[in-house]
Amino acid sequence: MNETLERWSSRRAFILAVTGAAVGLGNIWRFPYITGENGGAVFLLLYVAFVILLGVPVMMAEILIGRAGRRSPMQSLGHLASEAGASGHWRWVGLFGAFTVFCILSFYSVVSGWSIEFLVEAVNGEFVGRSAAEIGAGFDAFLADPALMAFNHTLFLVMTMLVVAAGVTKGLERLNNFLMPLLYLLLLVLAGHAATTSGFGEAVSWLFKPDLSAVTPMVMVHAMGHAFFTLAVGACALMAYGAYMPDHQSLSRAAASVAVLDVTVALLAGIAIFSVVFSQGMDPGEGPGLMFVTLPVAFAELPFGAFWLSLFFLLLLLATWTSSINLAEPMVATLQGWGLGRGKAAAVVGLTVWSLGLLSVLSFSTMADVQILFGMNAFALVSTIPPEIFLPMGGLLIAIFAAWVLPAPVASRALDAGPLGFSVWRNLVRWVSIPLTLVVLVSGLI
Ligand code: PHE
Ligand code: NA
Repeated sequence: MNETLERWSSRRAFILAVTGAAVGLGNIWRFPYITGENGGAVFLLLYVAFVILLGVPVMMAEILIGRAGRRSPMQSLGHLASEAGASGHWRWVGLFGAFTVFCILSFYSVVSGWSIEFLVEAVNGEFVGRSAAEIGAGFDAFLADPALMAFNHTLFLVMTMLVVAAGVTKGLERLNNFLMPLLYLLLLVLAGHAATTSGFGEAVSWLFKPDLSAVTPMVMVHAMGHAFFTLAVGACALMAYGAYMPDHQSLSRAAASVAVLDVTVALLAGIAIFSVVFSQGMDPGEGPGLMFVTLPVAFAELPFGAFWLSLFFLLLLLATWTSSINLAEPMVATLQGWGLGRGKAAAVVGLTVWSLGLLSVLSFSTMADVQILFGMNAFALVSTIPPEIFLPMGGLLIAIFAAWVLPAPVASRALDAGPLGFSVWRNLVRWVSIPLTLVVLVSGLI
């Protein structure tokens, strides 16, 4: 009896939930286009370094706080702070996180809506026999159609909020992790196919031969932000999962395996996409449309291309669905903490995120040239500042709290990695992660 129960214990559920949150648009859509805009190999190198030096240790800090507090993020932070004799204001880090994911979800939902549109078009066989230029033109036409884009954004957000309201995320996560290996397999096939194309050599050297003279403070800011974003770290979203983590599950192993998986997916997608870019003489810095134009071209070259492309968009949609559920959860939990029922909380969050998302929708047509702040339109703003500034700021506060404010015995017990493991982790966070995040943030602001 216990044997069978053990298989579906929260030990497994925990890894499923964290992987579901991590793997999403960040890997397949955002990673390639940001890499393309930031010079390729330099960006990749910095991003991997930041994943190792910041992403994994801060992810451990975040989950550790949840496991030590065993409450919602705001409550855990407040409770642990008061037990440590520190200020109760630490709990506002949880609210800041909820605000960050609120902004992120607004554009995440819009771009996930693009996947819905592409899924429908792929099923209808729209991409078969089209050239890269024709597919690019089709995508531009879609971007210029705010009504259609708003429809898909609405559909995706309704899908997300229904699951959140019903609280059936566990079932979806299992389905997700049952089907995700298929997504990896598809990407692997694509990357393998890419190796036979004319652009492969150029793509590989562009991705893996860094020109260190191209390192600038802004490239570092982008790479650091993406490391936090792709691992879903810095918004207290993973902290909530830590509260349900079993006592003796290895936190370092969980964090490291999620990071390896996440980077692998991004690399496979990058190889597949940039091989098309260089085979077709396209511009790597094409921007947010990069994946949506290159992957249909790549799949079209495979036998049964329309089928594989449809399957790909279906799986991508599933991956973004589980990520967006994780994005919505902190806000819904916060409203619930303020006494709202779960259904109402989900409706309120859904409606406000939806409204903000409309600005992103219009950013590709009527509001394309409306500069909200720093010369950026609404989409550019919400898809840059929250992932690249707010997440690292949240991560910084989380790291300071875990490594400096929490008493060592409390932190060590929650980390559960032995005295040596604890001291390695804490020194890494204290002397590497925290100063590095600060330096990059400050140099970016200057
Ligand atoms: N990690 C997700 C992705 O790569 C995005 C995300 C960010 C999810 C922050 C939750 C919290 O797509
Ligand atoms: Na990710």
